[in-house]
Amino acid sequence: TRRVRTRDLIAAKERGERWAMLTSYDQYTASIFDQAGIPVLLVGDSAANNVFGYETTLPVTAEELLPLVRAVVRATKHSLIVGDLPFGSYEEGPAQALRTAVRFMKEGGCHAVKLEGGRRCAAQIEAITGAGIPVMAHIGFTPQSEHTLGGYRVQGRGEAAEEVLADARAVAEAGAFAVVLEMVPGEVAKRVTAELSIPTVGIGAGPDTDGQVLVWQDMAGLRTGRAPRFVKRYADLAGALTDATRRFADEVRGGEFPAAEHTF
Ligand code: KIV
Ligand code: NA
Repeated sequence: TRRVRTRDLIAAKERGERWAMLTSYDQYTASIFDQAGIPVLLVGDSAANNVFGYETTLPVTAEELLPLVRAVVRATKHSLIVGDLPFGSYEEGPAQALRTAVRFMKEGGCHAVKLEGGRRCAAQIEAITGAGIPVMAHIGFTPQSEHTLGGYRVQGRGEAAEEVLADARAVAEAGAFAVVLEMVPGEVAKRVTAELSIPTVGIGAGPDTDGQVLVWQDMAGLRTGRAPRFVKRYADLAGALTDATRRFADEVRGGEFPAAEHTF
């Protein structure tokens, strides 16, 4: 079967079908998610935290993300791969945004790009989509702006709901094929989803968006410690890997590994 296309996601919305999206940053997870039928994989700038160990997403660069994009594209056959434009690579204006998006398409080989910002990034979205590159928008809480937003906080509560709606209309009008809604009240996400003809993808946005996205290490329980409220852990990979690691080390210490069958 062929790759998922942006029009398949719009058609899914018209049929009222929901779909899952995950981040991926390497070949093994990409291949598993692709085979498991996840239609959209995001090589997120959250690689900053989840691969490179930075405190925030701000430091990560296109040079760091592009090899991960290439790995995920190479490892997949079905999923649509979205490359996340890092902080500093599109804010200067439409020309810079288009230049970076073209780099992601040519050097990364992804099928769409994502950037953060609503009305303030409409001109960038127009420039990129005008060049034939699909754009996924991202509004509500946008981690690259955490210092302006005052940390990880729900956006669009009370009267601020109108701000989220205005951002959603602006990105759809500018040509985005989908929009991520991060940490907005469920009622606001529901209104945006009903109003827009493009799919919404929620993260901490309640059950009424067209798609749902999670960072894969959160979904699979590889990241330990306190997780945001919107995370559900579907596995305990950290526990499984810790266990395997301890057994390996124990067997080496005890002289049980390698055994005869592992020896030439
Ligand atoms: O970088 C990322 O992981 C994201 C998703 C959570 C939407 O932008
Ligand atoms: Na991101």
